[in-house]
Amino acid sequence: MTNETILITGACGQLGTELAEALRKIHKRVIATDLKEAVPALGDTEFRKLDVLQPQELANLIRSENVTQVYHLAAILSATGEQKPDLAWNINTNGLRNVLEVCTNLKVKRVFFPSSIAVFGNSTPNINTPQYTAIEPNTVYGITKQAGEQWCQWYFKNKGLDVRSVRYPGLISYKTQAGGGTTDYAVEIFYDAVAGNTYKCFLKEDTVLPMMYMPDAVNATLQLMEAPTESLSVRTSYNLAGFSFAPKDIVAEIQKHLPEFKTIYEPDFRQQIAESWPQSIDDTYAQKDWNWQPKFNLDKTVADMLQHIKVPHSI
Ligand code: NAD
Ligand code: SER
Repeated sequence: MTNETILITGACGQLGTELAEALRKIHKRVIATDLKEAVPALGDTEFRKLDVLQPQELANLIRSENVTQVYHLAAILSATGEQKPDLAWNINTNGLRNVLEVCTNLKVKRVFFPSSIAVFGNSTPNINTPQYTAIEPNTVYGITKQAGEQWCQWYFKNKGLDVRSVRYPGLISYKTQAGGGTTDYAVEIFYDAVAGNTYKCFLKEDTVLPMMYMPDAVNATLQLMEAPTESLSVRTSYNLAGFSFAPKDIVAEIQKHLPEFKTIYEPDFRQQIAESWPQSIDDTYAQKDWNWQPKFNLDKTVADMLQHIKVPHSI
């Protein structure tokens, strides 16, 4: 157990609820914050309401509670971002600037910023996408993450702020609903499968995307945040890979457990977003710099998800 005091922004979301639990096992104090009220998945984690667009409130909390590390998760995801571009730009970009500025001024030791495969676009090689390559995002969300990565590097180089980042693939988990992303189908599908419903998939059956099971995403985050400073060569954001599949692949895997399960395909605007993203990721830098290695593949993920989603309900 360390003596660090951790503050998480956007902690009520898919990632924050799981990171809070993991961080509490390592650090003396974890303060979860969010724009909305605490969600049940946070359990008895200490909670404060906090809007990342209010830098003074953020500064007051960091100062009064002697916060030493910030995990800045608050964001609008890709699908919602296309529908609400101004909101996505404001929260994702100005929220991050507020965090970086306040953390610099108050000498916070370390900051985590989650980027995404959404920084990549149609001009990027989409198989084994390298760390350094063309980056022309197609979505507002991707633009905010690309700008965010550059801001992180700028604060590291010019202000000495130790800010670290990964480009997560689509995250699969069962604790909290997925929040407005293009990869959300890979979470929603389990709830209809368990409930005995036909799942209506918003992507075409052969759309391959990089994904990751939440325990691997949490481990990667903790590994990066604990790595010695001198071992880190990437200060924009590390590519991170789990495994890749298309909707038809996850359907087939679920059918091994639930043979009656059926899916229909009705692609919507999210299809175009998905087609602009890579199919697979080369994460050699993460492997070399901080020994990254995922533990879950598709069949292990599906088995574990189905084991945990026991109560039939639709999300
Ligand atoms: P989510 O949508 O589930 O949660 C985001 C949280 O941010 C929500 O609880 C929301 O209430 C909060 N929030 C929104 N505006 C806020 C504000 N102004 N102040 C404070 N809180 C605010 O998202 P998630 O899936 O948990 O993602 C967390 C982070 O990881 C995001 O930055 C996201 O871009 C990144 N990421 C997620 C995925 C994924 O597949 N889930 C993949 C790549 C990157
Ligand atoms: N999973 C996220 C989304 O679909 C990518 O960052 O928006």
